[in-house]
Amino acid sequence: MSKLLRIGVLASGGGTNLQAIIDRCQDGHLAAEIAVVITNNPGAGALDRAAKANIPTLCINHRDFSHREDFDNAVVSALQKAEVDLVVLAGFMRIITQTFIDAFPDRVINIHPALLPAFPGLHVQQQALDYGARFSGCTVHFVDGGVDTGPIIIQAVVPILPDDSADSLSARILEQEHCIYPQAIQLIAEDRVRVAGRQVVITPACPAEATALVNPATSLQ
Ligand code: GAR
Repeated sequence: MSKLLRIGVLASGGGTNLQAIIDRCQDGHLAAEIAVVITNNPGAGALDRAAKANIPTLCINHRDFSHREDFDNAVVSALQKAEVDLVVLAGFMRIITQTFIDAFPDRVINIHPALLPAFPGLHVQQQALDYGARFSGCTVHFVDGGVDTGPIIIQAVVPILPDDSADSLSARILEQEHCIYPQAIQLIAEDRVRVAGRQVVITPACPAEATALVNPATSLQ
């Protein structure tokens, strides 16, 4: 068996994306092992999920640091000690500094609950609703120096329905997050992913969905 990709997962909240990654590692669809789960939030549900799966955990509370860089240096040291090949931000609600990115060049990925470049930042499901968008979705991307601006690996699209709330839309998006995040990690584990400027090149190429999505549906196609 070839070597498993060692990943470090950073999470601040409930950790359902972490759980999806754990499940895919356990059922053999993901050729990766989670070397460490790090949180900045002592109350993060992600800690329980990791502990249940016997994954080492670490809480590094950002409130214990007066400078963002010092917090990032502590996280980077922990990730280096765990010898991770890839850093996976899974609901990690801190902006990371250039020092962090430089320590893992093209090796930090994030999942965002919108179709980037639309709606970067926070509360993006509500933003998509307020804007009146007909579709939203989720994006897995490499992390660069900006907020949700890095090269895009994979996206999933979901419709926005007339009676959606931020909660119902978030749930529909989250379901897709749980599919595309393990998929993106698996492509990296297979060493098929390269960053070329703004583009992410996947070799051999993955087939894309060939059908257009229209919302509301049309009979004129
Ligand atoms: C997910 O929807 C993720 O895309 C989002 O936080 C949620 C975490 O859920 N991340 C961001 O908004 C990052 N800016 P989880 O803790 O259940 O995985």
